[in-house]
Amino acid sequence: MDSLPFQIALLLAQVCLVILAGFFLIRPIRMLIFGRPDAPPVPTPRRAIFHIAEALAVRPGDIVYDLGSGDGRVLLQCAKLEPSARFVGIERSFLLHYLARFRAFMSGSPTNVSFLRQDILLADLSPATKLYTYLCPTLMNQLLPKIEHETRKVRVVSYVFAFKAKRPSRTIHISSPRARRDTRLHVYDF
Ligand SMILES: C[S@@+](CC[C@H](N)C(=O)[O-])C[C@H]1O[C@@H](n2cnc3c(N)ncnc32)[C@H](O)[C@@H]1O
Repeated sequence: MDSLPFQIALLLAQVCLVILAGFFLIRPIRMLIFGRPDAPPVPTPRRAIFHIAEALAVRPGDIVYDLGSGDGRVLLQCAKLEPSARFVGIERSFLLHYLARFRAFMSGSPTNVSFLRQDILLADLSPATKLYTYLCPTLMNQLLPKIEHETRKVRVVSYVFAFKAKRPSRTIHISSPRARRDTRLHVYDF
């Protein structure tokens, strides 16, 4: 029978080992599920979707892309409001891509909505007439030259984050009773 101090030392060593393993494993597991953590998987609040749909002003024939479409909530809601437009969600995270497809299935598999698992910086944006983004400052700045180069007469609506090198044509303030400051929706017309 081992002594009590020895057993405590053994237990402490095991706890340290588990913490160490967790430290090295959490990052690869996070990467597998969410992809690189440059724009965190935070969904657009439901109360903002109405303002986004209004700012996008989707018309029949429009092709709307959500760049980093997460669980697909924005596109699926917009598709209900304008069934004659097409909606494409591009998402890098394996888990969120399949969650969006599952949500599309649960809402009756609308034929005008599709989700692609792809990196937005590598995707072909040329068919888009409207773009929605909720990303981060770095990605916004990387996207600007790509949008200017690949698209024609596109409207971009960005939740929270603005382009550093382009002035918005309109900024919409979305207030919330719980938030201390308004959230901004930046509208750009290229
Ligand atoms: C803040 S969330 C917004 C999700 C969704 N658009 C919404 O409004 O609910 C940003 C999303 O962008 C995705 N993302 C980040 N970088 C990406 C990239 N390079 N290519 C594709 N998706 C990316 C993340 O996985 C995350 O789901």
